[in-house]
Amino acid sequence: MKILIHQTRATATDCAAALIADRLTRQPDTVLGLATGGTMESVYANLIARHQVGGVSFARATSFNLDEYVGLQADHPCSYWHYMREKLFDHVDMDPHRAFLPKGDAADAEAEAARYEAAILAAGDIGLQLLGLGLNGHIGFNEPTSSLASLTRIKTLTQSTRDANARYFERTDDVPRLAITIGIGTILRAQEVVLLAYGAEKAGVVAQMIEGAVSAACPATALQMHRKVTVVLDEDAASDLALRNYYEQVHPRVSDPSI
Ligand code: F6R
Repeated sequence: MKILIHQTRATATDCAAALIADRLTRQPDTVLGLATGGTMESVYANLIARHQVGGVSFARATSFNLDEYVGLQADHPCSYWHYMREKLFDHVDMDPHRAFLPKGDAADAEAEAARYEAAILAAGDIGLQLLGLGLNGHIGFNEPTSSLASLTRIKTLTQSTRDANARYFERTDDVPRLAITIGIGTILRAQEVVLLAYGAEKAGVVAQMIEGAVSAACPATALQMHRKVTVVLDEDAASDLALRNYYEQVHPRVSDPSI
């Protein structure tokens, strides 16, 4: 794993966005794996700003999002399709016919999960997978005890994940109990992975992901088995790392020039 520690979340975010922009510049027809959640909002805002000054184009890219809530139609204000349109797709030159999310309102959610996995395979698998990190160690909606070889399927969300995502809904009870998520095995097939985490509340799970034993109890530890993972952190999220000095020796900490 390549561990990049930034002084602030602003430069960490910029770094994650730059990794995506660079990949699209080198390979405009990249298959992107995209995430939602609070962490990604500033990454997408950064990519929109780059796009507006001609710094990045999505015109030839394909994208597959990690997950979608079961039962929500695409136009539901809390669906991840709605999030992606609002936070990214409507503001860049992404071809909407090549931007995919699982269909949360499919009549047969299991069949939809299998179809989505097959679509990722047919696209040649994900080139660059962007990930956030759940407080309980989930990636996508692969909750603790998910098989480390899992493919796209339905997962029951933990109460901690439903609580964390309640801010997007009127009431916690409105957060769906089930989601379709691409699997850990699907993520591990990606050519490269970029995971962004910031904030002190993620410090413990970040340390577990990077330095803990590989275990389904913390699904993100599966990334230790991947050949090309870049973990981008701010100082707060890096604060529990036992080998932090070593990571900073290999890749010196990036200062924020605005401070
Ligand atoms: C979202 C997703 C999740 C989030 C994770 C972190 O598509 O797959 O794994 O990345 O829950 O969420 P935030 O960024 O809100 O802390």
